[in-house]
Amino acid sequence: MDRGFLFGDGVYEVIPVYGGRLFRLAHHLKRLHNSLNAVRIANPLSIDAWETMLTDLVDRNAGGDQAIYLQVTRGVADKRDHAFPENITPTLFAMSTAMAASVDIDTVTGTSVITLPDIRWKLCNIKAITLLPNVMLRQQAIDGDCAEAILIKDGFAIEGAASNLFIVRNGLLITPPNGPALLPGITRDLIIELAANHAIPFREADITEEALFSADEVWLTSSTREISPVTRLDDTVISGGVPGPLWRRMITLYQDYKRAIRDGKAG
Ligand code: PDD
Repeated sequence: MDRGFLFGDGVYEVIPVYGGRLFRLAHHLKRLHNSLNAVRIANPLSIDAWETMLTDLVDRNAGGDQAIYLQVTRGVADKRDHAFPENITPTLFAMSTAMAASVDIDTVTGTSVITLPDIRWKLCNIKAITLLPNVMLRQQAIDGDCAEAILIKDGFAIEGAASNLFIVRNGLLITPPNGPALLPGITRDLIIELAANHAIPFREADITEEALFSADEVWLTSSTREISPVTRLDDTVISGGVPGPLWRRMITLYQDYKRAIRDGKAG
């Protein structure tokens, strides 16, 4: 009778762990807090209690590299009713899964992606466990021999089914601005930070479908995929069919950042 099971009534996070250390934990906990607020579930733990619990989970799974999945649902009630039950206690679930090993940059060939209409709801900034549209979209991509779908809404490219979108145009890195249309990705924010710190020209701006298809580079980013270069978009070859030079620069900065986390020099 958990409402997560009955209604998809809950929110989640995916947090990478490098060298036994939780990647950008404060950012993930802040986004979790925002998601919980948005769906009116009281945060069941303080920041310190979250950190203690998650660190314990990481340690019990032998440190190293892993991915933590956690979800908080509204909880269990006696009867199935859409309305929020009174005096309900949230259910907290967390698990560790294996994390794919870091890729050797020189072996990355790029991925094929399809564009599909964005059939999701109007609050995509909430990291809700209600993922049926994303599941359908991702499967449609797989069925078309593609790794991911880029979602198009009102003529604009928004994000992937489970990733954020960047394009490069004449040396300028562009990603759509945060808002209700997309998830404020933790990887996305780090890339913006790295661009700012390394004098890479950068702008948050809407990306038209036309700009997407004529981009010099297209990347998809997430906690589990890191920065994935797209080399084919539907029937269009992107960046000459090979990962582009700015991708190479950014993934190098990203790997450096991960190394700093492993060494305890970044959080
Ligand atoms: N998904 N946009 C959507 C719709 C996502 O589901 C995700 C991540 C992202 C990237 O966010 P982040 O950089 O914080 O991982 C963007 C996770 C990985 C998942 O559902 O498994």
